[in-house]
Amino acid sequence: MSVETFAPKPVKTLTDLREETEDVPSNRSGNPTMGDVINTRMSRRGILSGSLAVSAIAATVSPIALVAGTSARASTMADSAFRFTEIAAGVDGTHHVADGHDARILLRWGDPVTADAPDFDPMNQNAEAQARQFGYNNDYIGFVPLDAHETRGLLLVNHEYTDAQLMFPGAASVIDGKVVLAPRTGDMVDIEMAAHGGTIVEIARAGESWAVVGDSPLNRRITATTPMILTGPAAGHDRLRTAEDPTGTRVLGTLNNCAGGVTPWGTWLMAEENFHGYFKGRMTGDHPEHANHRRYGAPGFWYDWADFHDRFDVSKDPNGPNRYGWIVEVDPLDPASTPKKRTAMGRFKHEGCETVVNRDGRVVLYSGDDQRFEYVYKFVTAAPFDPDDRTGNADLLDEGTLHVARFDADGTLEWMPLVHGAGRLTAANGFASQADVLIETRRAADLLGATPMDRPEDVQPDASAGKVYVMLTNNTRRKPGDEDGANPRADNAFGHIIEISETGGDFASTRSTWEILLKCGDPSIAEVGATFSAATTEDGWFGMPDNCAIDAEGRLWVATDGNSLAKTGRADGLWAVDTEGAARGTSRLFFRAPVGAEMCGPCFTASAETLFLAVQHPGDEGLATYEAPATRWPDFSDALPVRPSVVVIRKRDGGRIG
Ligand code: FEO
Ligand code: CA
Ligand code: CA
Repeated sequence: MSVETFAPKPVKTLTDLREETEDVPSNRSGNPTMGDVINTRMSRRGILSGSLAVSAIAATVSPIALVAGTSARASTMADSAFRFTEIAAGVDGTHHVADGHDARILLRWGDPVTADAPDFDPMNQNAEAQARQFGYNNDYIGFVPLDAHETRGLLLVNHEYTDAQLMFPGAASVIDGKVVLAPRTGDMVDIEMAAHGGTIVEIARAGESWAVVGDSPLNRRITATTPMILTGPAAGHDRLRTAEDPTGTRVLGTLNNCAGGVTPWGTWLMAEENFHGYFKGRMTGDHPEHANHRRYGAPGFWYDWADFHDRFDVSKDPNGPNRYGWIVEVDPLDPASTPKKRTAMGRFKHEGCETVVNRDGRVVLYSGDDQRFEYVYKFVTAAPFDPDDRTGNADLLDEGTLHVARFDADGTLEWMPLVHGAGRLTAANGFASQADVLIETRRAADLLGATPMDRPEDVQPDASAGKVYVMLTNNTRRKPGDEDGANPRADNAFGHIIEISETGGDFASTRSTWEILLKCGDPSIAEVGATFSAATTEDGWFGMPDNCAIDAEGRLWVATDGNSLAKTGRADGLWAVDTEGAARGTSRLFFRAPVGAEMCGPCFTASAETLFLAVQHPGDEGLATYEAPATRWPDFSDALPVRPSVVVIRKRDGGRIG
């Protein structure tokens, strides 16, 4: 691919754009923001003493250890359910894992996936190669075992988005202190589309080592052009019909697949999150879809795909955005299968979709809508799961009830059904059918009085405890006076975690209780108001909880997105959080991602003897000089995970992680 001469224009990185919202006013109160408080505190503490100033770091090319300290520290948390010794918080160019564990890179952007994939050549990228290779920014990881001993399995990995300035040689430069990005060419757009979606790849373990099975017939890439079908109550509806698809049932591709889930019958759920960013074009204010699209921030103008593909231009295909924002179900055991967008589960910016089998056999799926002041949802299937009939479970997700959460101040929680005809979800309010309720899930939830939350991310059921953990990553636009019980901090820079107790362990319950497990941030700064236990060390606290997992011992692990030298003095990573007994609210650091990376995954095998982690957008934090890729991959070795990558962790002497 050649890079053409271009007219410079200032751009924001996708990471910047993801942090913004289009439909929420910014805080104009003039009060010092939490960022101001932290910056003051951080400089007081002299966290950079003996190291480089931030401005100097920004101009640096190679990863440099910014905060020393890779040595493990002793921990005194006798009551903890975790056994490992935590590592030091900090920021540098590589990853760190707790003593006694090995962390190895299993897959990186560009690695061959299908048997016919060419080797990665970052200087000569093309869409045909990318569509066979591991995609960009890897977020969700799922694992489907292929035997009883965890020696073979399928890894399911979402590719959420692309960063052109990090992918394409010469695509960006710095002019007058601003990052300037070339307009995407058609070639670049096609590569971006091929780098989205997901990867299914067979892996095999020999001893402590996992490796990709390069010639497995199950290896498959899903991209932004893979043919899919829409199923469920909204399929075929007028509002899903476009020029390309007059049936309203066939869609090309999936977008912005953030977190996800694996069903009890072994299918993969890919959650479509920030779909609005892929659309361009104008529509008049009186267009019937105008208000609907505005509610989702579409068109978002993040990408230039609409310049080459009309389906992303709302002036040409006004129903286009209605075909994204769904949960996509993929059968990884059938490489010829057509992915299905399950409309019964609603349309919003799904962070993920985690499942639990309820005691009555019905399947309950939890999903957050990741934007400031959006909601938490759960879907309860109409029919029970049958462990002996995989085919019979194939369309379980087409029938059921979607609920949205109202968190009341007294600690109770109402799961309100989003059912056409109930309450205000009637024709008088513009909902002619259940299809309208599902296409406009957010507006339907507004009318029911759902609780606007501080950016709901992963929502994780704990099957054995009857609990559900809700990651609320941050919301700096909540103003003083807008706090409520479930979102108790204005200018919530560091997020919090809510623990839901589903009544009597019944995950289908419509009335439950909740409490705040943790308010995140530095507990040594009183203004932050963090609530980690006193046993949590200087290394153990974190901000911005994003993804999480429950392991075989019912222990909670939290991955973060948004920690940095400037914000918290630490890279993102994976923290272990006690939820029971005297240690409840104690956190400690298990794994640290390299500078600029978001920590995603986390995925434990059923035995908890293997842990997969996703290192997303490493280097995307001021260390860039935007001369990618030469400055990003100095030696293409496995020493530094400076390409988006999947890391596999095992305990050195065997046994369970952590
Ligand atoms: Fe893709 Fe909610 O982060
Ligand atoms: Ca996320
Ligand atoms: Ca999860």
